[in-house]
Amino acid sequence: MTAAEFKNPATTAILEAAKARRSIYTLKAESPIADEAIEQLVQHAVLHTPSSFNTQTGRIVLLLKEEHQKLWDIAISALEGLVAAGHVPKETFETQTKPKLNAFRNGYGTVLFFVDYESLAPIKEKFAIYADNFNPWALESNAMAQYLIWTALESEGFGANLQHYSPLIDEQVAKQWNLPASWKLDAQLVFGTPTAPAGEKAFSPLENRFKVFGK
Ligand SMILES: Cc1cc2nc3c(=O)[nH]c(=O)nc-3n(C[C@H](O)[C@H](O)[C@H](O)COP(=O)(O)O)c2cc1C
Repeated sequence: MTAAEFKNPATTAILEAAKARRSIYTLKAESPIADEAIEQLVQHAVLHTPSSFNTQTGRIVLLLKEEHQKLWDIAISALEGLVAAGHVPKETFETQTKPKLNAFRNGYGTVLFFVDYESLAPIKEKFAIYADNFNPWALESNAMAQYLIWTALESEGFGANLQHYSPLIDEQVAKQWNLPASWKLDAQLVFGTPTAPAGEKAFSPLENRFKVFGK
Protein backbone atom coordinates (compact mmCIF):
# COMPACT_ATOMS: atom_id res chain seq x y z
CA MET A 1 0.00 0.00 0.00
CA THR A 2 1.53 3.35 -1.01
CA ALA A 3 1.22 6.11 1.56
CA ALA A 4 -1.53 8.57 0.68
CA GLU A 5 -0.77 12.28 0.62
CA PHE A 6 -2.74 14.44 3.04
CA LYS A 7 -3.44 18.12 2.44
CA ASN A 8 -2.68 19.12 6.02
CA PRO A 9 0.54 17.85 7.72
CA ALA A 10 -1.43 17.85 11.00
CA THR A 11 -3.46 14.93 9.61
CA THR A 12 -0.30 12.85 9.26
CA ALA A 13 0.73 13.91 12.77
CA ILE A 14 -2.64 12.85 14.23
CA LEU A 15 -2.53 9.48 12.48
CA GLU A 16 1.09 8.88 13.51
CA ALA A 17 0.20 9.72 17.13
CA ALA A 18 -2.69 7.22 16.95
CA LYS A 19 -0.31 4.54 15.68
CA ALA A 20 2.32 5.36 18.32
CA ARG A 21 -0.18 5.01 21.21
CA ARG A 22 0.35 1.67 22.93
CA SER A 23 -0.25 0.04 26.31
CA ILE A 24 2.93 0.54 28.31
CA TYR A 25 3.14 -1.11 31.71
CA THR A 26 6.71 -0.43 32.82
CA LEU A 27 6.65 3.11 34.13
CA LYS A 28 8.59 5.32 36.51
CA ALA A 29 7.43 8.31 38.51
CA GLU A 30 8.96 10.96 36.28
CA SER A 31 7.30 13.39 33.91
CA PRO A 32 8.71 14.67 30.61
CA ILE A 33 6.48 17.79 30.85
CA ALA A 34 5.28 20.30 33.47
CA ASP A 35 2.27 19.41 35.62
CA GLU A 36 0.47 22.45 34.12
CA ALA A 37 0.92 20.96 30.65
CA ILE A 38 -0.59 17.64 31.79
CA GLU A 39 -3.45 19.54 33.39
CA GLN A 40 -4.14 21.55 30.23
CA LEU A 41 -3.97 18.45 28.05
CA VAL A 42 -6.62 16.77 30.23
CA GLN A 43 -8.77 19.93 30.41
CA HIS A 44 -8.63 20.13 26.61
CA ALA A 45 -10.10 16.62 26.41
CA VAL A 46 -12.81 17.49 28.96
CA LEU A 47 -13.84 20.49 26.86
CA HIS A 48 -13.49 19.16 23.35
CA THR A 49 -14.52 15.50 23.49
CA PRO A 50 -17.89 15.17 21.77
CA SER A 51 -20.94 13.76 23.55
CA SER A 52 -24.40 12.80 22.29
CA PHE A 53 -26.66 15.86 22.08
CA ASN A 54 -23.72 17.73 23.62
CA THR A 55 -24.75 16.31 27.01
CA GLN A 56 -21.17 16.60 28.37
CA THR A 57 -21.50 13.65 30.74
CA GLY A 58 -17.78 12.94 31.16
CA ARG A 59 -16.09 13.78 34.46
CA ILE A 60 -12.35 13.55 34.97
CA VAL A 61 -10.03 13.63 37.97
CA LEU A 62 -6.28 14.01 37.46
CA LEU A 63 -4.11 12.49 40.18
CA LEU A 64 -0.40 13.29 40.26
CA LYS A 65 2.46 11.95 42.36
CA GLU A 66 1.40 11.23 45.97
CA GLU A 67 -2.30 11.49 45.06
CA HIS A 68 -1.75 8.92 42.29
CA GLN A 69 0.01 6.63 44.78
CA LYS A 70 -2.99 6.92 47.13
CA LEU A 71 -5.21 5.54 44.36
CA TRP A 72 -3.10 2.43 43.95
CA ASP A 73 -2.82 2.02 47.73
CA ILE A 74 -6.64 1.99 47.72
CA ALA A 75 -6.62 -0.71 45.02
CA ILE A 76 -4.01 -2.76 46.91
CA SER A 77 -6.02 -2.67 50.14
CA ALA A 78 -9.25 -3.46 48.28
CA LEU A 79 -7.59 -6.54 46.80
CA GLU A 80 -6.15 -7.44 50.21
CA GLY A 81 -9.75 -7.38 51.43
CA LEU A 82 -10.68 -9.93 48.75
CA VAL A 83 -7.78 -12.14 49.88
CA ALA A 84 -8.90 -11.89 53.52
CA ALA A 85 -12.46 -12.79 52.47
CA GLY A 86 -11.17 -15.86 50.59
CA HIS A 87 -12.16 -14.58 47.13
CA VAL A 88 -8.59 -14.28 45.81
CA PRO A 89 -5.88 -16.84 46.71
CA LYS A 90 -3.08 -15.25 48.78
CA GLU A 91 -0.47 -16.82 46.49
CA THR A 92 -2.04 -15.23 43.36
CA PHE A 93 -2.23 -11.89 45.11
CA GLU A 94 1.41 -11.95 46.27
CA THR A 95 2.94 -13.23 43.03
CA GLN A 96 0.71 -11.57 40.42
CA THR A 97 -1.81 -9.00 41.61
CA LYS A 98 0.33 -7.04 44.05
CA PRO A 99 3.36 -6.70 41.71
CA LYS A 100 0.98 -5.52 38.96
CA LEU A 101 -0.66 -2.93 41.21
CA ASN A 102 2.75 -1.78 42.44
CA ALA A 103 3.83 -1.32 38.82
CA PHE A 104 0.89 1.07 38.36
CA ARG A 105 1.82 2.79 41.63
CA ASN A 106 5.34 3.32 40.26
CA GLY A 107 3.93 5.67 37.60
CA TYR A 108 3.65 9.46 37.75
CA GLY A 109 -0.10 9.90 37.62
CA THR A 110 -3.52 8.44 36.91
CA VAL A 111 -6.47 9.97 35.08
CA LEU A 112 -9.79 8.82 36.53
CA PHE A 113 -12.69 8.76 34.07
CA PHE A 114 -16.24 9.00 35.36
CA VAL A 115 -19.68 9.29 33.76
CA ASP A 116 -22.45 11.34 35.34
CA TYR A 117 -25.42 9.24 34.24
CA GLU A 118 -27.77 11.06 36.61
CA SER A 119 -27.31 14.29 34.64
CA LEU A 120 -29.04 12.56 31.71
CA ALA A 121 -32.44 12.34 33.45
CA PRO A 122 -33.95 15.48 31.82
CA ILE A 123 -32.82 14.64 28.27
CA LYS A 124 -34.04 11.04 28.60
CA GLU A 125 -37.45 12.47 29.42
CA LYS A 126 -37.30 15.00 26.59
CA PHE A 127 -36.21 12.48 23.95
CA ALA A 128 -37.97 9.39 25.31
CA ILE A 129 -37.48 7.55 22.03
CA TYR A 130 -33.69 7.55 22.67
CA ALA A 131 -33.94 6.98 26.43
CA ASP A 132 -32.14 3.63 26.34
CA ASN A 133 -29.35 4.98 24.16
CA PHE A 134 -28.12 7.79 26.36
CA ASN A 135 -26.16 5.64 28.85
CA PRO A 136 -24.21 3.74 26.18
CA TRP A 137 -23.58 7.00 24.32
CA ALA A 138 -22.25 8.56 27.51
CA LEU A 139 -19.82 5.66 27.88
CA GLU A 140 -18.77 5.98 24.24
CA SER A 141 -18.10 9.67 24.76
CA ASN A 142 -16.06 8.84 27.85
CA ALA A 143 -14.03 6.33 25.82
CA MET A 144 -13.27 9.07 23.29
CA ALA A 145 -11.80 11.22 26.05
CA GLN A 146 -9.78 8.24 27.27
CA TYR A 147 -8.39 7.69 23.80
CA LEU A 148 -7.54 11.35 23.26
CA ILE A 149 -5.74 11.69 26.60
CA TRP A 150 -3.94 8.36 26.20
CA THR A 151 -2.71 9.36 22.72
CA ALA A 152 -1.77 12.92 23.71
CA LEU A 153 0.13 11.81 26.84
CA GLU A 154 2.15 9.31 24.80
CA SER A 155 2.78 11.98 22.18
CA GLU A 156 4.39 14.02 24.99
CA GLY A 157 6.74 11.17 25.93
CA PHE A 158 4.69 9.36 28.58
CA GLY A 159 3.81 5.67 28.57
CA ALA A 160 0.28 4.80 29.69
CA ASN A 161 -2.08 1.89 30.24
CA LEU A 162 -5.81 1.68 30.81
CA GLN A 163 -7.21 -0.09 33.88
CA HIS A 164 -10.63 -1.03 35.26
CA TYR A 165 -10.76 -1.53 39.03
CA SER A 166 -14.35 -0.40 39.36
CA PRO A 167 -16.52 -1.12 41.33
CA LEU A 168 -13.91 -2.47 43.77
CA ILE A 169 -12.37 0.94 44.47
CA ASP A 170 -15.38 3.22 43.83
CA GLU A 171 -16.40 3.93 47.41
CA GLN A 172 -12.88 4.70 48.65
CA VAL A 173 -12.13 6.86 45.59
CA ALA A 174 -15.28 8.96 46.11
CA LYS A 175 -14.43 9.33 49.80
CA GLN A 176 -10.73 10.10 49.35
CA TRP A 177 -11.29 12.90 46.86
CA ASN A 178 -14.73 13.95 48.07
CA LEU A 179 -16.38 13.40 44.68
CA PRO A 180 -20.09 13.79 43.89
CA ALA A 181 -22.12 10.61 44.38
CA SER A 182 -23.41 10.86 40.79
CA TRP A 183 -19.90 10.42 39.32
CA LYS A 184 -19.69 6.75 38.28
CA LEU A 185 -16.12 5.54 37.83
CA ASP A 186 -15.38 3.88 34.49
CA ALA A 187 -11.64 3.67 33.87
CA GLN A 188 -8.21 4.57 35.18
CA LEU A 189 -5.43 5.66 32.83
CA VAL A 190 -2.04 5.16 34.48
CA PHE A 191 0.90 7.12 33.07
CA GLY A 192 4.57 7.73 33.70
CA THR A 193 7.92 7.78 31.95
CA PRO A 194 8.36 4.44 30.16
CA THR A 195 11.28 2.25 31.23
CA ALA A 196 10.71 -0.29 28.43
CA PRO A 197 8.92 -0.17 25.08
CA ALA A 198 5.50 -1.72 24.42
CA GLY A 199 5.36 -5.41 23.57
CA GLU A 200 4.74 -6.86 20.12
CA LYS A 201 1.23 -6.35 18.77
CA ALA A 202 -0.55 -8.63 16.30
CA PHE A 203 -2.93 -7.16 13.71
CA SER A 204 -5.89 -9.03 12.21
CA PRO A 205 -5.87 -8.61 8.42
CA LEU A 206 -7.32 -5.27 7.35
CA GLU A 207 -9.31 -6.92 4.56
CA ASN A 208 -11.37 -8.81 7.20
CA ARG A 209 -12.12 -5.60 9.07
CA PHE A 210 -12.67 -2.88 6.50
CA LYS A 211 -14.64 -2.34 3.30
CA VAL A 212 -14.84 0.65 0.98
CA PHE A 213 -17.47 1.31 -1.67
CA GLY A 214 -17.70 4.05 -4.29
CA LYS A 215 -13.95 4.77 -4.50
C1 LIG B 1 -12.02 -0.50 26.20
C2 LIG B 1 -10.68 -1.02 26.61
C3 LIG B 1 -10.52 -1.62 27.83
C4 LIG B 1 -9.26 -2.05 28.26
N1 LIG B 1 -9.09 -2.53 29.53
C5 LIG B 1 -7.86 -2.87 29.96
C6 LIG B 1 -7.67 -3.28 31.31
O1 LIG B 1 -8.58 -3.32 32.12
N2 LIG B 1 -6.40 -3.62 31.69
C7 LIG B 1 -5.34 -3.56 30.81
O2 LIG B 1 -4.21 -3.86 31.22
N3 LIG B 1 -5.51 -3.16 29.53
C8 LIG B 1 -6.74 -2.81 29.10
N4 LIG B 1 -6.91 -2.37 27.80
C9 LIG B 1 -5.76 -2.32 26.89
C10 LIG B 1 -5.84 -3.36 25.77
O3 LIG B 1 -5.53 -4.63 26.26
C11 LIG B 1 -4.86 -2.92 24.68
O4 LIG B 1 -5.23 -1.64 24.23
C12 LIG B 1 -4.83 -3.88 23.51
O5 LIG B 1 -4.29 -5.12 23.89
C13 LIG B 1 -4.00 -3.33 22.34
O6 LIG B 1 -2.70 -2.99 22.76
P1 LIG B 1 -2.13 -1.51 22.64
O7 LIG B 1 -2.89 -0.65 23.62
O8 LIG B 1 -0.67 -1.61 22.99
O9 LIG B 1 -2.36 -1.03 21.24
C14 LIG B 1 -8.16 -1.92 27.38
C15 LIG B 1 -8.35 -1.33 26.13
C16 LIG B 1 -9.57 -0.87 25.75
C17 LIG B 1 -9.70 -0.19 24.42
